[in-house]
Amino acid sequence: MTFEGRNAVVTGGGSGIGRACAIVLASKGATVAVWDLNGAGAEETLGMIREAGGKGIAVQGDSAEAGAVADAAERTHAEVGPVTILVNNAGITKYRAFVDLTEDDWDETLQIDLKGPFLVTKAIIGDMLEAGWGRIVNISSSSTQSGSPNMAHYIAAKGGVIGFTKALATEFADKGITANNVPPGFVDTPLMRRNISDPAAVAARMPMKRSGQPEDIAHAVAYLASDEAAYVTGHTLSVNGGRFFN
Ligand SMILES: NC(=O)c1ccc[n+]([C@@H]2O[C@H](COP(=O)([O-])OP(=O)(O)OC[C@H]3O[C@@H](n4cnc5c(N)ncnc54)[C@H](O)[C@@H]3O)[C@@H](O)[C@H]2O)c1
Repeated sequence: MTFEGRNAVVTGGGSGIGRACAIVLASKGATVAVWDLNGAGAEETLGMIREAGGKGIAVQGDSAEAGAVADAAERTHAEVGPVTILVNNAGITKYRAFVDLTEDDWDETLQIDLKGPFLVTKAIIGDMLEAGWGRIVNISSSSTQSGSPNMAHYIAAKGGVIGFTKALATEFADKGITANNVPPGFVDTPLMRRNISDPAAVAARMPMKRSGQPEDIAHAVAYLASDEAAYVTGHTLSVNGGRFFN
């Protein structure tokens, strides 16, 4: 598997799963634009990519705000060139009991977790159409498979991401562009550690008796972004250590 000569955008690439995706894609030859709201995190990822001999740029910006996405795309096009691999990974998770859930909570989560992928895909899809080749990999969530209390807003957004993925898959199937999603479950990242007070106890209940690692997700993303996955589209590739099979 090689991404030599290809350019990628990874949103939320400054931490956790996005960072691992950026590093794995770069390690296989892609030039990676690491987009993140947290500019320092994006720079740190870029440093790791370069240390391993890879290429990329770090771009600070909000992937859920149209103007910022346009700026990030413009910089990426100017400094890297057309992008044919897109990993829509940036997201937030805030647990809130449904009775306490406010309209603002709902709007914030839908804005970042669902509208963000829409805006970024809109900004990049032209490059893929031009190239006659593209790979869109959206990061959803295993909570869409299991359901989960206190996550109505989040699961609604991530369920939307899966529907969005299937729609893109059918719309661009004859254009050399695939769209797939990976729903992580219990992956050890800063986000997970902010939300789960005792990760070891949760790990003990997992079939594999461990949490997922960001690299577990990144390798699945790399497969879906590869030439080898050309006939795979609209798919949900579960990476959850055997927790759910649907
Ligand atoms: N960790 C898990 O167990 C898990 C489980 C299911 C789904 N996910 C999903 O995986 C993705 C990555 O999560 P993670 O665990 O690596 O989280 P993380 O918090 O470690 O990393 C998320 C990154 O996204 C960035 N980000 C957030 N909002 C942004 C915005 N508006 N614009 C640009 N960047 C933004 C953050 O700054 C951060 O660097 C998210 O979409 C999350 O919902 C994670």
